[in-house]
Amino acid sequence: MYTQAMDIEPQSSEAPDAPRTANAQQLLARFNARIDDGGFIEAKDWMPEHYRKTLVRQISQHAHSEIVGMLPEGNWVTRAPTLKRKAILLAKIQDEGGHGLYLYAAAETLGVSRDALLEALHSGRAKYSSIFNYPTLNWADIGVVGWLVDGAAIMNQVPLCRCSYAPYARAMIRICREESFHQRQGYDALLTMMREGTDAQRAMVQDAVNRWWWPCLMMFGPPDADSTHSEQSMRWGIKRISNDDLRQKFVDATAAQANVLGVTMPDPDLRWNEARGHFDFGPIDWDEFWRVIGGDGPCNRERLSTRVQAWEDGAWVRDAALAHARKQAEMPQRAA
Ligand SMILES: [Fe+2]
Ligand SMILES: [Fe+2]
Repeated sequence: MYTQAMDIEPQSSEAPDAPRTANAQQLLARFNARIDDGGFIEAKDWMPEHYRKTLVRQISQHAHSEIVGMLPEGNWVTRAPTLKRKAILLAKIQDEGGHGLYLYAAAETLGVSRDALLEALHSGRAKYSSIFNYPTLNWADIGVVGWLVDGAAIMNQVPLCRCSYAPYARAMIRICREESFHQRQGYDALLTMMREGTDAQRAMVQDAVNRWWWPCLMMFGPPDADSTHSEQSMRWGIKRISNDDLRQKFVDATAAQANVLGVTMPDPDLRWNEARGHFDFGPIDWDEFWRVIGGDGPCNRERLSTRVQAWEDGAWVRDAALAHARKQAEMPQRAA
């Protein structure tokens, strides 16, 4: 769902590849020409090691975000207010699991194993989107997650459908179709609460918007001026639109939707700027962003321990599937 943290600088510095032989120079020139032409790179094509590593990091962080993103919503399956909302929520969570699987498969085409990627998540070395380290305290939070969190995800992800790495781009086309359903179901749930609900329910929606608005703006990553890694990703056609431009597009779209809904964003500086043709908005608390990315958000520890527990609880399923696959593989030999 969520690609915000994906252009965060890696822990170790990675030197850009310097071709050492004439053959390597030729391969690099061909790669650059294809990128410059707006072409796609397939898994079997030669690519610079730095490009491959950048994609492994970005796609795996994205995959981790999808499956960790299931946790705050799973918390509400048993408490959804109606059977219809429960069925919708279950389907949405299942979609997110599927998004994780497409993305792990896309990362595997770059020569990494899924076990290694999951080990990095479970040991706390890998990042996932900071937004999932915030709690879902009431039912309106589930609507706001759909409207704003999935809405921000769509804004981030639509440009990734044209990412230069083709297996990632193909996964994103399918994911984006499902994300737009996620966004609409969230908005619809909130609209129902605002139009048909009680004063207490309307207050729940406003409270949820107050808590989620700023963390959602952080989903687009640090300001362009502090995001040097983005420049290389732009050059490679992995990233197409800058963090700040995406954030502005999101603010413009959601400020109008908030009016229809009848909620107020918790930002006194949010207002239409006729000269710019955009909404202005107040300063973002980047200290909070870095604190949450660094592991000290409200739910970081809980999310990681729940995720590790789910992995351990599922060991028997993986063992059974492997045993079944082994038996299937032995069957033709037996027949022979
Ligand atoms: Fe998703
Ligand atoms: Fe989603």
